[in-house]
Amino acid sequence: MDVWKAAAERQRTHGDVIALAAGQPSTPAPRPVLDAARAALDQHVLGYTESTGIRPLKDTIADYYQRRYGVSVDPDDVVITTGSSGAFTILFLAAFDVGDTIVMARPGYPAYRNVLQALGCHVHQLDCGPDTRFQPTLAQLEALPEPPAGLIIASPTNPTGTIIDRAALAAIAAWCEHNGTLLISDEIYHGISYGHHDETCAWSLSRSAAVIGSVSKYFSMTGWRLGWMLLPPRYRDVTNRLASNLTVCPPAISQHAAIAAFTEESLAELDGHVQRYRVNRDILLEGLNNLGITRLAPADGAFYLYADISHLTSDTIDWSSRLLAATGVAVAPGIDFDTAHGHTHIRLCFAGATADMHEALGRLQRALPRLAT
Ligand SMILES: Cc1ncc(COP(=O)(O)O)c(C=O)c1O
Repeated sequence: MDVWKAAAERQRTHGDVIALAAGQPSTPAPRPVLDAARAALDQHVLGYTESTGIRPLKDTIADYYQRRYGVSVDPDDVVITTGSSGAFTILFLAAFDVGDTIVMARPGYPAYRNVLQALGCHVHQLDCGPDTRFQPTLAQLEALPEPPAGLIIASPTNPTGTIIDRAALAAIAAWCEHNGTLLISDEIYHGISYGHHDETCAWSLSRSAAVIGSVSKYFSMTGWRLGWMLLPPRYRDVTNRLASNLTVCPPAISQHAAIAAFTEESLAELDGHVQRYRVNRDILLEGLNNLGITRLAPADGAFYLYADISHLTSDTIDWSSRLLAATGVAVAPGIDFDTAHGHTHIRLCFAGATADMHEALGRLQRALPRLAT
């Protein structure tokens, strides 16, 4: 967020920012969603809705899981939330108590850690580097002193983009079931992958898991603030009550419009974005390698490259701010994602325009000699 603020200031003063820091698509919602939102303004009151979401959207999401993964979902298993961020808060409150231990990968999405700690949970981070393709392993779980209350797996993950293999996820899901650990599968980057690995829905492996989805990433709708969970029935009542008390309901206009996000027309438009991300990814992979930045996470999916630049700096907060000042290129320092090792890493988001990738690499090439510390 500090980088975003500095980048916004730089844009105001210089007008030359290339934003590779923020983790969001640079495109609007698909056209059918925009049309549906306009129609919703005319046709609906847009007051409060049911606290866990409107039935037609639940039906649409349940149907999408059948079409996309062959997983049968009862619409009553779907809880619509205010972004996946809203889903995490509700689920953590529903499933965990103060003092419970929840395990996650490091590097990982920082809000899991921050929210869990704010709720009084103990967060145990597993160091997941290139040797485990930045994903937790069964061996790491088996080495824990006792089974945790929860385990969060994100695949594709943020900040590295790696996808966990189906067999590895199946083994972890079985271990969680056996040990009474709630597996929380963050699948919000599903749809954005580059063909080397499966995107497995955890519900195709274990119905005891919680699956998290969102319209923010693949669906290109970050600011619409809509996400969802698939939850085992035992959480139904408590999530219902938490949802109505915490947020009353997710945004009404977003819910009505999002029904159109799952149509073939929308999916075709969104797949077009993924093609651009693939081109951008290849440009950055090649360009960064040519600049000697070669220790890059595999980026099987999502739209991030996580780069180890320990040969350039041991303080990427400072390096990123000097990069911004020298070139207008904004990248995210790794420290948020990994408080232990992130000071030597940066994350670059390649969801923007392809021309921006070329421009960023050109500016980086010219500035690199001046940025050495
Ligand atoms: C892995 C992961 N999970 C969850 C979120 C939260 O997304 P949202 O609340 O927009 O659905 C993000 C946002 O960047 C993320 O990277």
